[in-house]
Amino acid sequence: KKKIIIAIDGHSSTGKSTMAKQLAKELGYVYVDTGAMYRAVALFAMKQGFIKSDFFDKQALINSLDQLSLSFIFNETRGFAEMYLNNENVEDQIRTLEVSAQVSVVAAVSEVRRLLVAQQQKMGEEKGIVMDGRDIGTVVFPNAELKLFVTASAEIRAKRRYDELLAKGEIVSYDEIFQNVVERDRIDSSRSDSPLVKAADAIEIDNSNLSREQQFELILKLAHERI
Ligand code: C5P
Repeated sequence: KKKIIIAIDGHSSTGKSTMAKQLAKELGYVYVDTGAMYRAVALFAMKQGFIKSDFFDKQALINSLDQLSLSFIFNETRGFAEMYLNNENVEDQIRTLEVSAQVSVVAAVSEVRRLLVAQQQKMGEEKGIVMDGRDIGTVVFPNAELKLFVTASAEIRAKRRYDELLAKGEIVSYDEIFQNVVERDRIDSSRSDSPLVKAADAIEIDNSNLSREQQFELILKLAHERI
């Protein structure tokens, strides 16, 4: 059977990663969450004191990029690969609202993108991969056999994110989350390097009114048509 590359892009908090994870499992493919990589770089910048809410020493981050190593290690119990930053498991630390608030600024830095894109392309060399992010179908794998572009209304996305963080026991307000979702969309879509845009040959899925099951059925069919 032929192995393909499946590129999933779209706005924040559309449930892309849950869907991508499920799809990879079903197909026996590798799943790569590129957002986790940008989040880990943002966490690194925060830990080093290069970025705060009103301050960003971009050059200091660029100069330190060679001291940063990222890897994914599969966790059997959780059933997915967790993010490691310099050999420390940062899977949970990168999902906080603090990191979400800084990540888009860090992800707009060309040197950061160049480094991560090269690593992502390497992971896809053997194909048989489902990768999700913002620029997978446009920049990382412009020749991917299947490209999806996932969206939903900002209100619905913020509500889903709110429920998710609440379930994890994080104390957050809906308004704060809504602002973060809108602000990340704005920065991701307006940056000069690899802005979030739908690739011309991507299939758009607005999941505002789709159940998880309906959406999964749809993408599984699209994948099987190409394998
Ligand atoms: O997917 P997730 O919401 O975890 O991504 C976090 C942030 O990382 C995005 O808001 C975006 O700024 C950045 N990102 C990116 N390119 C990717 C994946 C994520 O710029 N391929």
